[in-house]
Amino acid sequence: MTAVKERQNSILSNKRNEEENIAEESIRPLWLADYIGQQSIKDNLSVFIGAANKREEPLDHVLLYGSAGLGKTTLASIIARETGRDIRITSGPAIERPIDLIIILKALKEGDVLFIDEIHRLRRPIEEILYSAMEDFAVDRVISRGIGAKPIRIALPKFTLIGATTRSGNLSSPLRARFGIMLALSFYTPEQLEKIVMRSATILNVQITQKAAYEVASRSRGTPRIANRLLRRVRDFAEIKNEGTITEEIADYALSCLGIDKRGLDEEDRAILEILTGKFKGRAVGLETLSASVSDEPENIEEVYEPYLLKEGLIEKTTRGRMATAEAYICLGKEVPQNVF
Ligand code: ADE
Repeated sequence: MTAVKERQNSILSNKRNEEENIAEESIRPLWLADYIGQQSIKDNLSVFIGAANKREEPLDHVLLYGSAGLGKTTLASIIARETGRDIRITSGPAIERPIDLIIILKALKEGDVLFIDEIHRLRRPIEEILYSAMEDFAVDRVISRGIGAKPIRIALPKFTLIGATTRSGNLSSPLRARFGIMLALSFYTPEQLEKIVMRSATILNVQITQKAAYEVASRSRGTPRIANRLLRRVRDFAEIKNEGTITEEIADYALSCLGIDKRGLDEEDRAILEILTGKFKGRAVGLETLSASVSDEPENIEEVYEPYLLKEGLIEKTTRGRMATAEAYICLGKEVPQNVF
């Protein structure tokens, strides 16, 4: 393998958690028709995809935003499949140098889909290469150094960029402005997650009752990736305790053993709430202080824990930091202080 090819392979498909990705891969829906939830996104996408296919043109660039695990990668693969195109997958942090991105772009074929996960984490000089690549399907590159060094323009095939980010506000305005299609994914309802759990159980050949599927779904923080992970863990308990069948009782027992409460909060969620309602009672706490207190990375708190705690109305974000709401005190069985609402 050439050095360029090796580098290209290490940049492409550089994924967060290989084990979980392999498990997810086999149960991912392949077509829009199999995808549960996000109805307005599906309705809009099928119009845009149908129109692009009719014109025999690549789809406009797409920005997908929403919390981790809501299905951005799944949707990107579905878009590629529905438009009959090949997909190349990479992520913002995997693209370390401008040349990395140029290598990826030059290797694309006409009409390919390029998926960049965590696109908000691209460094600025790399992001700037994307501007002309997205707009003009070309990149300008200075080859030699010193006096008289002139940029040369490298033409690229027409392609569709699909960017994924946890929040559209994380993206610079010039980059955001170059996406023709912007789609916001929201948390799933327990009923939608129940259908996802039932579908995944069928594919994995797991016996599960409807009530058990609902139990798993309602404790999955509105997130399919979590629902599918919990399904696999609950299946382990069912195999040991109940010859494989997941009943409501087994699901409840397994989730309690895993430290996941009735509303889907885990130990770290509760640790965050404990800090905000204990040591910092009634006061706003900055992200750095909070992350030091629970010994976790600030990005993890911001991207994994906070969105659900905010959605559940357990914390509030102010300009001074995070604060526990009255609901958080009630959830932990604590008395609500006078100055907390
Ligand atoms: N697996 C993960 N997400 C899914 C979804 N939205 N629909 C069906 N199966 C899924």
